Amino acid sequence: VLQRFPLVEVRGIPLMNLIAENWSSVWDFCPDPSDLLISTYPKAGTTWTQEIVDLLLNNGDAEICRRAPTSERIPFLEIFSPPPIPSGLELIKKMKPPRFIKTHLPIQLVPEGFWEKKCKVIYVARNAKDNLVSYYHFDRMNQTQPEPGPWEEYIQKFIKGKLAWGSWYDHVKGYWREREKRNILYLFYEDMKEDPRREIVRIMQYLDLSLPDDIIDKIVELTSFNVMKDNPMANYTFIPKIVFDQSISAFMRKGEVGDWTNYFTPAQSQMFDEDYTRQMADVDIPFRTSI
Ligand code: PPS
Repeated sequence: VLQRFPLVEVRGIPLMNLIAENWSSVWDFCPDPSDLLISTYPKAGTTWTQEIVDLLLNNGDAEICRRAPTSERIPFLEIFSPPPIPSGLELIKKMKPPRFIKTHLPIQLVPEGFWEKKCKVIYVARNAKDNLVSYYHFDRMNQTQPEPGPWEEYIQKFIKGKLAWGSWYDHVKGYWREREKRNILYLFYEDMKEDPRREIVRIMQYLDLSLPDDIIDKIVELTSFNVMKDNPMANYTFIPKIVFDQSISAFMRKGEVGDWTNYFTPAQSQMFDEDYTRQMADVDIPFRTSI
């Protein structure tokens, strides 16, 4: 029987207990210089970016990119599930280079080898309120993370950095501050929605690839929300219902910018914005939409 795992802090960051218990094996992970890391705060556009990268590296070949579920093609570095489900590390070790790896770790918890080996890192940030709404629905359906509880309380947990993988604010700031020094490609979900082709081309160039226009067009189409929603190798229906109960909320839920307006009351929004201004005062990250 599956349980909702409690969160345990690793260096001040709340993580699922199985990750905390196995932390040393994550921290000691030794990457190859050709490894590519895709990093996000949970629900910021990870799966979308994973699909784009896989298609770019496979010349837009839809069939090859349906060879396995997202979680096997681009394993999740720090994830540990109850046996027999393999850990992210086990899956990574079976891969041949070039390997793409997903993480939600804040920058200070990313194994040092990624920086020492100068691995490429793509970071995706999503505006705080939409990110929160998406995470709320995910925590309703993901039977391994703590129950979200009432909406009002969930907002407070987000603000206080009490959700799994910690503070959204520290996460987006941590990568932002290091992006130039560590050659991180820092993307925004809202930019990807506005002009997916432009952002796909940015990723392509960052990966030192050069694909013809018609292949890029094809990748734009294959990574659109509607196509990915119906792609059984990308929509997480490959995860059993006892883990992700998508009858509660679909993994590919809405894929929109501004859905937060359907959830925040004006008072909640005002309170959130006032806190946001305080927490983000020491950095100027160009989020393009209303927070
Ligand atoms: S996870 O569990 O952290 O890996 O989730 P992640 O993939 O980061 O985030 C899931 C949200 O991204 C939306 N999504 C997309 N939006 C637009 N286009 C595409 N192709 C796409 N694929 C996934 C997904 O619907 C989740 O957002 P919400 O707002 O909940 O719909």
